[in-house]
Amino acid sequence: MLHLTGDIVVEVLNTCAMYRFDEPMIDDLVNAWERDSLYQKWHKASVENVKQFWSTQTDCIYWQSLPTDVYDNGYWLINGKSNLYYNCVARHAIQTPDKVAFINYYDDPSMRKTITYRELDILVKKVVYLLIQKGIQKGDVVAFFMPTRIISIASMLACAYIGALHMVVFSGFSADVLAQRIKDSNAKLLLTLPTIRRGGKEIDLVKTINEVSKKLADNMPEVLYMNDIPDVPNVSLNIEWLNNQDEAFILYTSGTSGKFKGVVHATLPYMLYVSSTFKNIFAPKPDDVYFCTSDIGWITGHSYLVYAPLFWGLTSVIFDGTPLYPTPERYWEIIEREKVNIFYTAPTAIRSLKTYGDEYVTKHNLSSLRVLGSVGEPINETAWNWYFHIVGQKRCPIIDTWWQTETGGFILAPLRNMSQQPCVAGRPFYGVNVSIIDNQLVINNAWPGKYKRILNQNGMYNSVYKSGDTAKLVNGEIKITGRIDDVINVSGHRLCTADFERVLSTMPEIIESATVAIPHEITGQTIVVFAVLASDTISTHEELNIKIQQQLRKSIGAIAKPHKIIYLDDLPKTTTGKIERHKLRELALNN
Ligand code: PRX
Repeated sequence: MLHLTGDIVVEVLNTCAMYRFDEPMIDDLVNAWERDSLYQKWHKASVENVKQFWSTQTDCIYWQSLPTDVYDNGYWLINGKSNLYYNCVARHAIQTPDKVAFINYYDDPSMRKTITYRELDILVKKVVYLLIQKGIQKGDVVAFFMPTRIISIASMLACAYIGALHMVVFSGFSADVLAQRIKDSNAKLLLTLPTIRRGGKEIDLVKTINEVSKKLADNMPEVLYMNDIPDVPNVSLNIEWLNNQDEAFILYTSGTSGKFKGVVHATLPYMLYVSSTFKNIFAPKPDDVYFCTSDIGWITGHSYLVYAPLFWGLTSVIFDGTPLYPTPERYWEIIEREKVNIFYTAPTAIRSLKTYGDEYVTKHNLSSLRVLGSVGEPINETAWNWYFHIVGQKRCPIIDTWWQTETGGFILAPLRNMSQQPCVAGRPFYGVNVSIIDNQLVINNAWPGKYKRILNQNGMYNSVYKSGDTAKLVNGEIKITGRIDDVINVSGHRLCTADFERVLSTMPEIIESATVAIPHEITGQTIVVFAVLASDTISTHEELNIKIQQQLRKSIGAIAKPHKIIYLDDLPKTTTGKIERHKLRELALNN
């Protein structure tokens, strides 16, 4: 076993200041033209010599064994050995033990809890002990059905400690979704809580878990309720030092074919990518308070709520409630009280909060804010303007970050302190060579954040990564305009029309169905379902509407709520039998 003494850790951290650029920071340059040309110069150099660029980004990682090469023939960080828990918790627990790692806000507005790096370290070790007791080893998959709370994050880090893969399922998803993902990933253990709260309502997770257990029968993993964690007896818990191919986690998302896919990330390149993108794009200062409103169930919650801010030893606010409960000023109250400097949220939240009027925002002192981030979907002009003028008081740049579960971290973002083009995701990150081919955004080269594999799928990847998003150039910057496939985006959640159609096909009353997405003021896109009924259906449309909604809620989750359900005698089809979705979309828009 390896003994890492405090001295070694402090020495490593001292060589690793927050900013270590050999050239001036882009922020330090006053002239916009100068900044732009510096970016162009750096970006060009970084994609021409990817290895050299990434080798400048590896020094802040604590390496158990230094990599002998940064990149070689499709592989990153050759012969390197490190650990995410160690970089995100252990070293800070030694260097800044009393610094607060997380300030947890809850759905219940009377609750607030903080945890320091030292306390987080102790909590992680308690969970590690529990996992080991349950026989979890390196490479095993641990499923999570937990909200965004300290205990959930400590448990993710406990997996990292021993090299187990976490597989987090958003706690608002249904028993069906949870069961499918547990089965597909062959999870050995399921971590959850007996109850959670959302929007003032208590949600009984035990009920959901019992349903999952019925569905999975013999394949049901052991369930651990994480509300009461015993102390660790005095034993030594070995950190698993991982190599460049060892995997960190699985996260499911909607694929183009309508089947969910388990995206797997490898630990070391993922750590390099999220730490570097976070530092360079958001440029946090050591004493900043950072607030990312994502849930841990999404990739944003993994990369920029758990791993990147902890890697840099920051203090983060996390929140397990909704922005509207009990009032639409939850976010603004929290920002004022905690003096948040960097705030990262989704356009759907901005649009929804805007409808309640400016006063909820302006009555709070938000002068601590310095950077405003956006993610999950294109930010439209009204939302951008409100975010910039009302929330940021024209003081804060809007950092619209474009990326995906598969990319691990930011691919596009605007430069800070540049004159801002509203609603434009901006420029490619250093070392990433992006172009637009047939309207589609593609990535031409390798970058460390790219997923390692898709679970249970074989096949080599093409050297060019196709994003599935359409894009165009606006004054030299990239604007994301939509999707090329049937993936839809409701409130920043990635769904697929085929998911809906599969669920509806299980209802005896429905012979055929098709789902289309239409634009929606608050949620970005919304779903309209078209259904053709069996001739012997006796239920009324009102009754069927309720049944369809219940079925979708049960099979997918509350986010799968159709905006409208339209009954047709037949679906419009081409002579070759393909559903004419553009006609349905027109019908949906005019109905
Ligand atoms: O369509 C793009 C949209 O969200 C998709 C990725 O979804 P997911 O893997 O769940 O990751 C979401 C968080 C990174 C993309 O293919 N998307 C994400 N961010 C933006 C965006 N569309 C436009 N602008 C963005 N900033």
